[in-house]
Amino acid sequence: MQVQWYPGHMTKAKRMMQDDIKLIDLVIELLDARIPISSRNPDIDELAKNKSRLVLLNKSDLADEAVNSRWQEYLSSKGLVTVLIDSKNRKGFSVINKAIEEACRDKLERDRKKGIIGRPVRAMVVGIPNVGKSTFINSLVKKASTKTGNRPGVTKGKQWIRLGKNVELLDTPGILWPKFDNEQIGVNLAYIGSINDEILDETELSVKLIEMLAADHPGSISSRFEIEETGGSAHILELIARKRGCLKKGNEVDYDKAAHIVLDDFRAGRLGRISLETPAP
Ligand code: G4P
Repeated sequence: MQVQWYPGHMTKAKRMMQDDIKLIDLVIELLDARIPISSRNPDIDELAKNKSRLVLLNKSDLADEAVNSRWQEYLSSKGLVTVLIDSKNRKGFSVINKAIEEACRDKLERDRKKGIIGRPVRAMVVGIPNVGKSTFINSLVKKASTKTGNRPGVTKGKQWIRLGKNVELLDTPGILWPKFDNEQIGVNLAYIGSINDEILDETELSVKLIEMLAADHPGSISSRFEIEETGGSAHILELIARKRGCLKKGNEVDYDKAAHIVLDDFRAGRLGRISLETPAP
């Protein structure tokens, strides 16, 4: 299954981010905890060179807990300060300020040697679409008003959100574009809903998802839909359709409707907390 997606506005987004990145000390990179590799744009290393770095594994509530810990260890072992968070429920937020401090330790030390003391760290959030950037920023400031600065006419300058005494966060996140280095990355992004379903064949995608779940996470489908997980993925989709009453005129199976249910359930974590990528051993 070939998934491609290069919207034109991504070039503009990249230019904007290159400008914003000049203003900041710390890049806060949001990744989807279920797919830390596929949701990461490797160009960030180049874009954010010479900056302090913090990685947030967001949507950790939807990913496998044991795998989450392995990712945190793995990324930390690569020298990246990493925190597991759930922006929707503000989980993991209590350690963020400390993590920022840790990520900026070298910079703060350099500042101190130059006699610069007490200047706040300026930070910006970056990540691919749908990874939870706006939810994170809004949850962080505990109010949903941070988007107002984006409206045309409201303000033209940069808006900074003060976090505690020592951190200022740019209110608009930097948007990275997903990088389709291989076919599986596109498929993973499609599974979690980061690629517009309109450009995808949902039925084909859900059949592929069912095949993977039946092989790697047996029981996740049968317990949710109360069906047997046997007979191949297209057959399982048919069973789900019948069970859920997804039928067209003449009792014909409505595969599209059933596919939508499966994808929706998976994305919302109703098939369990499932990580699609694990760190290299
Ligand atoms: P973006 O700015 O990076 O594009 O992402 P955004 O914040 O718009 O979040 C995309 C979707 O992910 C939203 O769901 C949001 O609620 C959800 N989300 C963000 N962080 C988390 C998290 O840590 N855990 C979970 N479970 N979900 C998260 P939506 O369906 O588009 O909107 P809504 O119905 O939730 O409002």
